Amino acid sequence: MKQRIISIKVLGIVFLLTIILNTLTIKAQKFDNLAPTPPMGWNSWNHFACEINEQTIKAMADAMVSTGMKDAGYQYINIDDCWHGERDSLGFIHPNYKRFPSGMKALADYVHSKGLKLGIYSCAGSKTCAGYPAGRGHEYQDALTYAQWGIDYLKYDWCNTDGLNAVGAYTTMRDALFAAGRPIVFSLCEWGNNKPWEWGASVGHLWRTTGDIYNCFDCIKDHGTWKSWGVMYILDMQKGLRRYAGPNHWNDPDMMEVGNGMSLNEDRAHFSMWCILAAPLIAGNDLIKMSDEVRDILTNKDVIAVNQDELGIQGFKYSSNDSIEIWFKPLANDDWAMCILNRDSKSQKVFFDWAIENVKDELFNKSLNCTLIKYNLKDLWTKKDIGTTSKKLETEILGHDVLMLRLIKTTK
Ligand code: GLA
Repeated sequence: MKQRIISIKVLGIVFLLTIILNTLTIKAQKFDNLAPTPPMGWNSWNHFACEINEQTIKAMADAMVSTGMKDAGYQYINIDDCWHGERDSLGFIHPNYKRFPSGMKALADYVHSKGLKLGIYSCAGSKTCAGYPAGRGHEYQDALTYAQWGIDYLKYDWCNTDGLNAVGAYTTMRDALFAAGRPIVFSLCEWGNNKPWEWGASVGHLWRTTGDIYNCFDCIKDHGTWKSWGVMYILDMQKGLRRYAGPNHWNDPDMMEVGNGMSLNEDRAHFSMWCILAAPLIAGNDLIKMSDEVRDILTNKDVIAVNQDELGIQGFKYSSNDSIEIWFKPLANDDWAMCILNRDSKSQKVFFDWAIENVKDELFNKSLNCTLIKYNLKDLWTKKDIGTTSKKLETEILGHDVLMLRLIKTTK
């Protein structure tokens, strides 16, 4: 009897200890599973910069539906810098009511009524990059405000952060969002300065790997104190980062410039490469004025399927000869995507002998064995079946363009 009482007591103590331990280990975290595949949406910055207001944002939401972008998978309408008004006497942030007279809650309701989600922008520093009130010292208050407004996505920038520790600053905002209780995708925009790929996975859902993109294929824009980068420069800066990306934690090579003035070939190459990189697909153009050709690029469901593949493996550069780069991305069900990128402005002939090439993804333990398995080849831009891997590939690729294929596994 005495023994039984003792063991009941022991059980009771163990139970209590478990509760106490659990309570102690319930720590703040990022919201789970908000980005199992790379987020898709639109952001105001690349085209509109500070020229934004609620009419424009609503019009973009309308256009996202009417152009078929929503059907193709785009979800987020993200307001970037310059929406801010002042903080009130209690420190709560308000929108600029001249630009957003109905307020952010009404705008979120509108965007939600279209079956879309609303994103907003702030910054870890004292001021945003455009000089508006930013998050530092107001993280919990701001997170609460965003939750009350019905915000679904927060891009958090890194201007005016002298003396701040990046991991600490972003973790504070992560904890604030979690405490506010509304699931919000957390997009770290720290430009790769503090290697966010090494610590970002437990803090946010995506992290910028570079400085800002610039609307050109292969140039650098020098702003004096800082530079922004053409598409090829950004592409090269992704080297060595694929090991860090995967479902719910993506490398972000910046929002797209498709439709902002590059040639159609360049737009196609840019979009294809962002899909091979498993990059977040955040369009940055004027969705109302875009041409049918640009719309067709942004809504190509076969190319998007490569980006959104459930394995979430970022692609890799297999070879590079002169201006021709060959990239591969392993896909679910043993399919593969292949993208041959011509970085030259003149067209180039390319040959690829499946029988002798040895395509291996050692990091994710995948290999493309064309001697054992035959793959059908689908050209994802022309939508044509172009044969199989039993025959050597011979093709010509226009300047600043790509050939993008899906290798579909068949039985031999
Ligand atoms: C930084 C970011 C950009 C954009 C601007 C807004 O430069 O990297 O993407 O958000 O700020 O001011």
